[in-house]
Amino acid sequence: MSRYFKYKNAESLLADARSLGLPIRLQSDLSPLLAPARVGGRSVGNRLAIQPMEGCDGNADGTPSDLTFRRYERFGDGGAKLVWGEACAVVPEGRANPRQLVINEANAAELGRLVDTCRRAHREAMRGEDDLLLGLQLTHSGRYSCAKPILAQHDPLLDPRTVMDRTQGTVASPSVPLISDAELDRLQDAYVAAAGLAYRVGFDFIDIKQCHRYLLNELLAARGRPGMYGGSFENRTRFVVQLIARLRDAYPTGIIAARLNVFDGVPFQKGPDGTGIPATFQAPAASAWGTDAEAPVEADLAEPKALVGLMRDAGLDLLNITLGNPYASPHLVRPFEYAPPDGYETPEHPLIGVDRHFRLTAEIQRAYPGLPVVGSGYSWLQAFAFQAGAANVAAGAATFVGIGRGSLSQPDFGRRVAAGQPLDPKRLCRTFSYCTALMRSKHNEAGQFPTGCPPFDKDVYGPIWDQAKR
Ligand SMILES: Cc1cc2nc3c(=O)[nH]c(=O)nc-3n(C[C@H](O)[C@H](O)[C@H](O)COP(=O)(O)O)c2cc1C
Repeated sequence: MSRYFKYKNAESLLADARSLGLPIRLQSDLSPLLAPARVGGRSVGNRLAIQPMEGCDGNADGTPSDLTFRRYERFGDGGAKLVWGEACAVVPEGRANPRQLVINEANAAELGRLVDTCRRAHREAMRGEDDLLLGLQLTHSGRYSCAKPILAQHDPLLDPRTVMDRTQGTVASPSVPLISDAELDRLQDAYVAAAGLAYRVGFDFIDIKQCHRYLLNELLAARGRPGMYGGSFENRTRFVVQLIARLRDAYPTGIIAARLNVFDGVPFQKGPDGTGIPATFQAPAASAWGTDAEAPVEADLAEPKALVGLMRDAGLDLLNITLGNPYASPHLVRPFEYAPPDGYETPEHPLIGVDRHFRLTAEIQRAYPGLPVVGSGYSWLQAFAFQAGAANVAAGAATFVGIGRGSLSQPDFGRRVAAGQPLDPKRLCRTFSYCTALMRSKHNEAGQFPTGCPPFDKDVYGPIWDQAKR
C-alpha cells in the first residue's frame, strides 16, 4: 500500500502540496515540453531528458554488454531528445562498481557502437535524429571507488561510514592519505583525453560529474584540504574551472555539461523505528557543499551559484542539478515511497523532497536564465511528473525535465507525451526501490548485479531479481 502517493487527479496532489505548504504547480497543457531548446549551438527537439541511469552491466573491461546496448536502444527509441548517458569512469581505479563503464582507447569503438545503437533507434522511432542530444557522464568515484576509496578530504561525517578494508572492516581514519595534488593534475589530463574520445566516437556532449559525493563533488567541499585544490572557494573550484577551460580550448565545438550537486546535506541513518534521522553533527558542518554550515539540513546556494557562473564563463553549455548522496541521504537524491532493503524509511513526505529539487533548480535557473538547466527528482510524481515539468518549464524554473527511475520502467514516455497520449499506467515507476536494491547487490561472480526495473521490465529483470534475492 502506498503511504503517500494516493492521487487520483491533479487536484488531490495539489491539495496535499498546499497542506504541506509547498508551492508545487501542475499544468495540463504540456506544450512547453514540446518546444525545442538551444544547447551549445544545437537545437534539441523537446524538453524531455533521460537522466544518467547506470545499469551496472558493463563487461569486466568496462565495455558495454548486451544489456547496456539494450538500455540505450530503449532510451533512443523513447522519444526524449536529451539522453544523458550514464557514469563512465575516466580511469579504472575510479569505478564505483566492477561493472561500471570505463572510457579509454581500447573501449572507444564499443562506446561508439553504443552511440550508434541509441541514434539508430531514435531515427527509426522519431523519423530523424538531428535534434537528439546524447551525452556521456565522465566520472571518478573517489570515496566510493570499489577497488579502494580515494579521498579528496577527510570528512568527519562520511569517514566513519567509508569502509577502507572490507575484510577487516576498517573505516577512513585521519591517517589515510588524500589523493595528492599531483595525482589530481594527472587526473585532469585523463578527463581531457576521455572527453576527446567521447566526442570522437559520436557523443554530442560530455558531463563532468560533480554530484552525489563522488570525487569532484567532494573536492568542492574540501575546506580542510591543504594545497592548491583545498581550502578557499577559489582552490576548491580550481580543478573543474581549469578543466572546462582546457576542454573549451582543446575541443572548441564540443558541448560541455556538468551534473552538479547544489546541496550535499548531512548523512542520514535508520532511527529506532526505521525512519531516517540525520546523523549527529557538530556545527559548523564544514565538510558539505552547498549546505548551511550551522543548519546543515538546509541548503545554502551562495557557492554553487558562484561556481555555475565560473563554469559558464569558462565554457559550460548545459547544467543538470541534483542533490544529496545516494549512499548516505538517498531521500534527497530520489524521493521514494518504499525504502531500499538496506535503507531507512523516508524521513519526510516525498513531495517535500520533490519540492526541494524544484526550488533549488529554479533558483539556479533564474540566476542564469540563458543557461539550459535540467531538473531532477521527478519520478515519484508518476504520471504527474509531466504536468509539474510543463509548469516548471513555463515558469522559467527549468529548461529540461529529467526522468531517472521512470525511464527504466517506461523509457517511451517521450513519444507518448509528444503524441498527446497518456502514459501506460501499468509501467509507471512506483519508486519501489528495486533498481537501487539491485545496484547494491554484489553477491555474484562479477561482484555486481545488473540493474533495471524488475516489476515493469519483468522478462529481463525478473529473473535477475530472483537470483539476487537468493
Ligand atoms: C539505478 C540507478 C542508477 C543511477 N545512475 C546514475 C548515474 O550513472 N549518474 C548519475 O548522476 N545519477 C544516477 N542516478 C540518479 C538518477 O539520475 C536520478 O538523479 C535519481 O534517480 C532521481 O531522479 P528520479 O526521481 O527521476 O528517479 C541513478 C539512480 C538509480 C536509481
